Amino acid sequence: MAKVIVTGGSGFLGHHLCKALIAEGHSVKNVDLKPNPDVETVIADICDSQKMLEVITDADTVFHLAALIEAGESVKFPQRFVDVNISGTVSVLEAMRQNGVKNFIFSSSAAVYGEPLHTPIKEDDRTLPINPYGMTKLAMEALVSSYVASYQMTGVGLRYFNLYGPEEHHEPESHAIPRFIHQIETGQEVTVWGSGEHQRDFIYITDVVDAHLQAIALCQNQPEKYHYFNLSTNRPTMVREVITMLEELLGKKANIHNFPNRPGDPLVLVADSSKATELLGWKAKVAIQEGLQKTVEYFRSLS
Ligand SMILES: NC(=O)c1ccc[n+]([C@@H]2O[C@H](COP(=O)([O-])OP(=O)(O)OC[C@H]3O[C@@H](n4cnc5c(N)ncnc54)[C@H](O)[C@@H]3O)[C@@H](O)[C@H]2O)c1
Repeated sequence: MAKVIVTGGSGFLGHHLCKALIAEGHSVKNVDLKPNPDVETVIADICDSQKMLEVITDADTVFHLAALIEAGESVKFPQRFVDVNISGTVSVLEAMRQNGVKNFIFSSSAAVYGEPLHTPIKEDDRTLPINPYGMTKLAMEALVSSYVASYQMTGVGLRYFNLYGPEEHHEPESHAIPRFIHQIETGQEVTVWGSGEHQRDFIYITDVVDAHLQAIALCQNQPEKYHYFNLSTNRPTMVREVITMLEELLGKKANIHNFPNRPGDPLVLVADSSKATELLGWKAKVAIQEGLQKTVEYFRSLS
């Protein structure tokens, strides 16, 4: 069993990942600005490099999830995103280098691709971010690859597509599925950018968690390399199809309000994840209908 440190383990994905790591018998320490009552947590800012030197020690593997995540906010405050996502990652990597922690598994994003030239997107397709958030994720990948090559570390970058599931709470909530559930449930207008024909690759939280668990074995079997993977279902779903499924699950009609397309919002965003199947032995298992049902059950259990 591994000794692991999770950064951002109090967030949506981090919470699920910490629970799964503990269930698998790993020893887990979380580093976050916010508490997580389910796991030993050090309240600290990843940008505090002195603190990272003290905390990121005595471990085999770091799962680095902590980041600013809202692409729209990154357009307003690019410097903040550079500070947390890039400089914060440097301070975590530096602590690992100085303390001899070797394996770095981290959250990248579909945002590294920007507007794809074709779909489904493969890992070695063009990466050309169209917002500062995506730029920071691509810079993180370059940082990790340079640390791996320079300091005999092992890196795994996981590029998630549209992640969703129970316990998703962002402030503000810009992610489509929790926002749609709340808007349909409360009878508010359901805001849709464009006609609703945008297609996205919605991936369920437990599938993404599984890929992280499998990445531990990859670090052991193929060390001192930088590996990068799409985590996706390979199946596009239209936004309006998601709304129809949610209407059925919630037993309520959505009051849809269509707004103009947002610039830089590709019509189709779907990825090929066969590389993860081949090298990680991973495949998304949860179909959108099942994932939405579990997500609706969770949000209903709150009211
Ligand atoms: N949710 C998605 O759809 C999605 C898609 C692609 C990539 N990602 C990436 O996955 C990761 C996790 O996303 P999430 O949805 O769980 O986000 P989240 O906002 O729920 O969790 C992020 C966590 O990081 C912590 N954090 C932020 N800044 C910090 C700092 N300076 N120091 C310490 N902790 C800090 C926050 O307190 C939070 O608990 C992020 O890196 C995000 O960019 C998410």
